[in-house]
Amino acid sequence: MPSMAQGEHKSFVQNSKPNPKSAFSMRQKIAEHRRSLPIASVEKRLIEEVHKNDILIIVGETGSGKTTQLPQFLYNAGFCREGKMIGITQPRRIAAVTVAKRVAEECEVELGQKVGYSIRFDDTTTSSTRLKYMTDGLLLREALLDPYLSRYSVIIVDEAHDRSVHTDVLLALLKKIQRARSKPVGEKTEFGNVASQVQTQTRDANGPQQNGVLKGCQGRKLSPLKLIIMSASLDARVFSEYFGGAKAVHVQGRQFPVDILYTVHPESDYVDAALVTIFQIHFEEKPGDILVFLTGQDEIESVERLVQERLQNIPEDKRKLLPLAIFSALPSEQQMKVFSPAPTGFRKVILATNIAETSITIPGIRYVIDPGFVKARSYDPSKGMESLDVVPASKAQTLQRSGRAGREGPGKSFRLYPEREFEKLEDSTKPEIKRCNLSNIILQLKALGIDDIVGFDFIDKPSRGAIIKALAELHSLGALADDGKLENPAGYQMSRLPLEPVYSKALILANQFNCLEEMLITVAVLSVESIFYDPREKREEARTSRNHFASVEGDHLTYLNVYRESDEFLEKRKAAGSGNNIDKIMKKWCKENYVNSRSLKHARDIYRQIREHVEQIGFNVSSCGNDMLGFRRCLAASFFLKAAQRQLDGTYRALESGEVVHIHPTSVLFRAKPECVIFNELMQTSKKYIKNLTRIDSLWLSELAPHHFKTAE
Ligand code: CDP
Ligand code: MG
Repeated sequence: MPSMAQGEHKSFVQNSKPNPKSAFSMRQKIAEHRRSLPIASVEKRLIEEVHKNDILIIVGETGSGKTTQLPQFLYNAGFCREGKMIGITQPRRIAAVTVAKRVAEECEVELGQKVGYSIRFDDTTTSSTRLKYMTDGLLLREALLDPYLSRYSVIIVDEAHDRSVHTDVLLALLKKIQRARSKPVGEKTEFGNVASQVQTQTRDANGPQQNGVLKGCQGRKLSPLKLIIMSASLDARVFSEYFGGAKAVHVQGRQFPVDILYTVHPESDYVDAALVTIFQIHFEEKPGDILVFLTGQDEIESVERLVQERLQNIPEDKRKLLPLAIFSALPSEQQMKVFSPAPTGFRKVILATNIAETSITIPGIRYVIDPGFVKARSYDPSKGMESLDVVPASKAQTLQRSGRAGREGPGKSFRLYPEREFEKLEDSTKPEIKRCNLSNIILQLKALGIDDIVGFDFIDKPSRGAIIKALAELHSLGALADDGKLENPAGYQMSRLPLEPVYSKALILANQFNCLEEMLITVAVLSVESIFYDPREKREEARTSRNHFASVEGDHLTYLNVYRESDEFLEKRKAAGSGNNIDKIMKKWCKENYVNSRSLKHARDIYRQIREHVEQIGFNVSSCGNDMLGFRRCLAASFFLKAAQRQLDGTYRALESGEVVHIHPTSVLFRAKPECVIFNELMQTSKKYIKNLTRIDSLWLSELAPHHFKTAE
């Protein structure tokens, strides 16, 4: 049990939560809420600044109303005249979704009308949408179709402090677009001639941009583009300098004092420590909801379950604790639950990823529990290895986390580590562009006609090594020619699919190998966090009851079995007339088979969407039936960059990087230890583990990827 500074011992008092009210009073409540936000008092000034400045930086504390209010202010000030849109980008999907829903509610419109969101695999916008919330990655993709983003009058890059790789690239691109849109017709821009700018909605998916101009657009001048950069970090210098001394406006926040509490000793198991602290707060502290920062879906679901279990063992009158999860892969209808007030007398405990640091503000939080960790990408260009690891959060993140407890009144933040550990944390997180594989982003820049990647005006330049590695990878995958140019149809197809290039390539190859159906399922399942439900305390039981899915050939084929069996089960039940109850029946099936029902549902959605994309490219989705040899050969042809060979001592050597790796215990090949495998994921904990494996024949590598393996030893 973590020893905390003792909290006050008080009996519980009832939380005064409003009853459901009439539409009229709801409207009044929303209007009141909007008026009370710190940003409301500076509406006029902000609009004036936007009129005066083409680039404006707005800095304001989390919860001050930037994301929900500013787009509405701009709309009211006439920035959506003549059908123009305001685009608001978020680094995280879930923020785009929840904020759009909230703003639609505030505007009293159906989602997809005036207000909508668009994220990868989920687009709710229509031709009536004027305020469009989306991910930064999605706007980058839009630029492939409309290089001048001509439908937008204002673009707001939100959460810029997050410095996601897409945000960084978007800022650079918007700088170019803005310059191009302010030039008179006929003048040369970085993208070519301005007269041909309102083109390209019709660009062919399999080829480069056509130089034709849409009828009626000749000679029409594009309106200038306003650019707003919003950040929760007080330091706006980096953005201001990047945009040539752009003006920064600070919105005064409202923050109550937050007591910071540290554990006396380090915690060896922060999940357990978090659990103990949740109940300690529940029993000892005044009313107020709890926000716990965890690192991912697995961890969140495990704590959610443990809280439920523990609740069963305490007196009934103390059970009024309501655990709620929020993470990106959570189905959209469940994401909104965290925003509703807890039932009278209940305390919510929200289990969130770092999404709740700044991207979304959840009302009612008085207590924060911060284990001090975050899941972050890291990349070693010399080895070409990207991994997703749990690492200590930065000081800036930790401060943001604590701040969440003081939004509506004084709060407390329980840090699950000793104070001396805080001092050791990095000040801020390194921009993602410096710690990720760049192949996806470089392919997109190439598709936008930007060839000089090393000379590109990044806000923080990625290392030369990382750029060269990504170019080499794209060349190996056949996307770029020897001279680094994007000119073949496969390269354009890859740039169009909303996937990492290696997965897009896998789909293109699968089309040739006649196993596109199988590869679509595989890619969809690999896109979710974990298709299996693996409670820590029931690992063996879970494994046994999943035995019938297991394939001796590896994890990909096992996932295929899970997906297909669930499909068959679903079809049978539908045929038997259980159509209405299908969600419940599926959940039961998942529970019995230790399959994660949320992940399976998500994977189905993703499958459907990628299928649409490949059909648009003109592929015919065919299945190889039971020819698993053909499918494995296709996996080898697709993922040859991630092949590993068993060594004499039983460890594996990753062929591309030369690193020693181990098969992760969750893989179905953990015990079989085949001679040669391909893998999709590398994970660093106590050792370097490879996950998602398929057994292959090592001879296939030189046969199927001769261009890559011909020079190997
Ligand atoms: O962007 P910023 O952090 O400045 O604030 P915001 O996201 O615009 O949120 C402003 C207020 O709206 C917060 O006080 C939230 O509590 C509230 N909000 C909400 O109640 N439900 C949502 N889905 C989103 C925001
Ligand atoms: Mg915001």
